[in-house]
Amino acid sequence: MMMISWIFLVIGLHAQPAYNQCLKDQQSLLLAFKNDLVYDPSSQIAKWNPSVDCCDWGGITCDKEGHVTGLDLSSQNVYGSINDSSSLFGLEFLQSLNLAYNDFDSLLGFSKLTQRLTYLNLSNAYSEGQLPVDFSLITSLVTLDLSLAARNVYMVYLDHLENLVQNLTELRHLYLDYINILAHNNWAGVISSSLPNLQVLSLTSCGLRGSLDSSLGNLKHLSVILLDGNNFSSGIPESLADLQNLTVLSLPGCDLTGLLPSKIFQVPTLKTIDLSGNEMLQGALPDSVGALELENLDLSGCGFSGPIPDSMQTLTSLRYLDLSANRFTGPIPSFQLSKNHLVWVNFYQNNLTGGIPSSHWEGFDTLEYLNLASNYLTGRFPESFLTLKSLRELHLSNNSFSGNINDPSNVSSYYKLNTMDLSSNKFEGPIPGFIFKLAALSTLKLSSNKFTGRVDLHMFGRLKELQALDLSYNNLTVSVDRSESASASLSQISTLKLASCYMQHFPDLNLDLSYNQLSGEIPNWIWEVF
Ligand SMILES: *[C@@H]1O[C@H](CO)[C@@H](O)[C@H](O)[C@H]1NC(C)=O
Ligand SMILES: *[C@@H]1O[C@H](CO)[C@@H](O)[C@H](O)[C@H]1NC(C)=O
Ligand SMILES: *[C@@H]1O[C@H](CO)[C@@H](O)[C@H](O)[C@H]1NC(C)=O
Ligand SMILES: *[C@@H]1O[C@H](CO)[C@@H](O)[C@H](O)[C@H]1NC(C)=O
Ligand SMILES: *[C@@H]1O[C@H](CO)[C@@H](O)[C@H](O)[C@H]1NC(C)=O
Ligand SMILES: *[C@@H]1O[C@H](CO)[C@@H](O)[C@H](O)[C@H]1NC(C)=O
Ligand SMILES: *[C@@H]1O[C@H](CO)[C@@H](O)[C@H](O)[C@H]1NC(C)=O
Ligand SMILES: *[C@@H]1O[C@H](CO)[C@@H](O)[C@H](O)[C@H]1NC(C)=O
Ligand SMILES: *[C@@H]1O[C@H](CO)[C@@H](O)[C@H](O)[C@H]1NC(C)=O
Repeated sequence: MMMISWIFLVIGLHAQPAYNQCLKDQQSLLLAFKNDLVYDPSSQIAKWNPSVDCCDWGGITCDKEGHVTGLDLSSQNVYGSINDSSSLFGLEFLQSLNLAYNDFDSLLGFSKLTQRLTYLNLSNAYSEGQLPVDFSLITSLVTLDLSLAARNVYMVYLDHLENLVQNLTELRHLYLDYINILAHNNWAGVISSSLPNLQVLSLTSCGLRGSLDSSLGNLKHLSVILLDGNNFSSGIPESLADLQNLTVLSLPGCDLTGLLPSKIFQVPTLKTIDLSGNEMLQGALPDSVGALELENLDLSGCGFSGPIPDSMQTLTSLRYLDLSANRFTGPIPSFQLSKNHLVWVNFYQNNLTGGIPSSHWEGFDTLEYLNLASNYLTGRFPESFLTLKSLRELHLSNNSFSGNINDPSNVSSYYKLNTMDLSSNKFEGPIPGFIFKLAALSTLKLSSNKFTGRVDLHMFGRLKELQALDLSYNNLTVSVDRSESASASLSQISTLKLASCYMQHFPDLNLDLSYNQLSGEIPNWIWEVF
């Protein structure tokens, strides 16, 4: 996404500075255009003032001669209809037109802008009906954005893709997200034969079916492929590995099948690979993955297996890594070289084994989410986890971690951890004292371990954000301070599970029960006290 906005930033910089006066005819065309529209008083267009040079109006760019070359009224609460008779189309020097995020009832007549228009952005500028195909006549177009937001899904449809793109041979950036493309047979063939210069192809949730055709590999300038949420029921063609400038390959939830060609992981320019949610897609990560400059890798919910290659240790720019819900085996390599970038790491539900050396997770100052749950991991609790200053969620449940958890005296108060789930492991010894210093903690699950010793329930009252606490199925003796202030301090907890804890006194929680929907598994005998 960074890259996409960069491309358009560069285009934006090409706009000429407005150092000449607006030509009279240009000004009257703009005022006539304004007259035909309805707009919010706060909108830029409302402030267009005839006594000010029109090249200085909000949203207007001019060339040296005073012709209007750019019009950007995106997100300006403009309504109305644009059609053949609109004075907009008298602006024959227009190169860039952005009317995105407004609400027009009709958008017709754009074929009149055939001479110079290179950038046309009507994203979310309309909300229903058949997409007019007269855009197909603007053969000068380099960028065409007709995309919609998800909320409008399938309210706008395009009957034949080829009627739109056939003659747009200069097009480099095409965005049709959430437009329902009806005749979708051979969509890939149509695109690859019509748009030889294409760099960005964004067709998220267009209802495309039919295979991801190998002809896409012929579009040799292709850099960004965003086809999320279509239904291809096919494999990923190896020809995509021929794309020398491919940076983003995003195909989540596309019903992809078969074996992912491992050559894909040899495209040196790739920064983002998202193949998540393709249950039938299989493969293994080849060693070559470590030679990429990957920033985002999401293979969650697929059928990948085999080890996570050690070569991934050489990745230096990884930000987002999600391999959850696959069948990966073996140990988790170190990602130390990416420690200044990683924000999200998810290995949930695989067949990973081995321990987690504490040194592997030192200094990941940007890491916010770490999920190693539901694997076969063993060994001690890595103390370095307690030094991760941005961490918000730590999930280690359903593994075979064991031993005492050390209690470092210096856990920092800036700690952001709000969820810690250590349940269903073999941790033993006392509940470590640092837990009571985690000021942001709202969910704490320690159930089904071998924690021992005595714990005072009111200690948890120090955790002002705590909403869910599960201490069940350990060997804990939970004692309760009967004073009113102690029970009041627990009043924010809405889920309390103490099954199979040794309780010496009934916690004086009747106030909490009435006001805080205390729920969950608490020992049956509690109810007899009422
Ligand atoms: C064309 O647009 C003008 C100005 O918005 C509007 O008054 C007119 O009704 C439109 N004509 C059609 C046929 O929609
Ligand atoms: C279209 O305009 C919207 C709103 O300004 C912007 O978010 C989007 O990135 C633009 N699309 C392209 C392809 O430039
Ligand atoms: C594409 O151009 C050809 C030749 O100019 C023309 O015959 C055809 O109608 C055009 N197709 C579309 C969809 O505009
Ligand atoms: C790949 O990108 C580079 C840098 O943007 C560019 O110079 C080169 O021409 C591109 N190659 C292809 C095949 O598009
Ligand atoms: C995708 O298409 C296949 C074959 O047409 C069909 O069996 C499957 O249900 C579709 N999946 C979705 C999510 O629509
Ligand atoms: C993963 O572990 C499960 C349970 O031990 C086992 O049945 C399965 O064969 C393993 N899968 C792989 C790919 O190792
Ligand atoms: C525990 O993890 C294993 C391995 O991923 C998984 O098969 C099993 O369903 C998990 N059990 C629970 C209760 O989540
Ligand atoms: C606590 O102190 C030890 C030893 O001085 C140090 O290695 C560790 O990083 C510190 N932990 C935190 C959370 O500051
Ligand atoms: C529970 O803890 C007590 C000491 O607090 C110990 O004597 C006993 O053996 C433990 N029971 C189990 C099943 O671990």
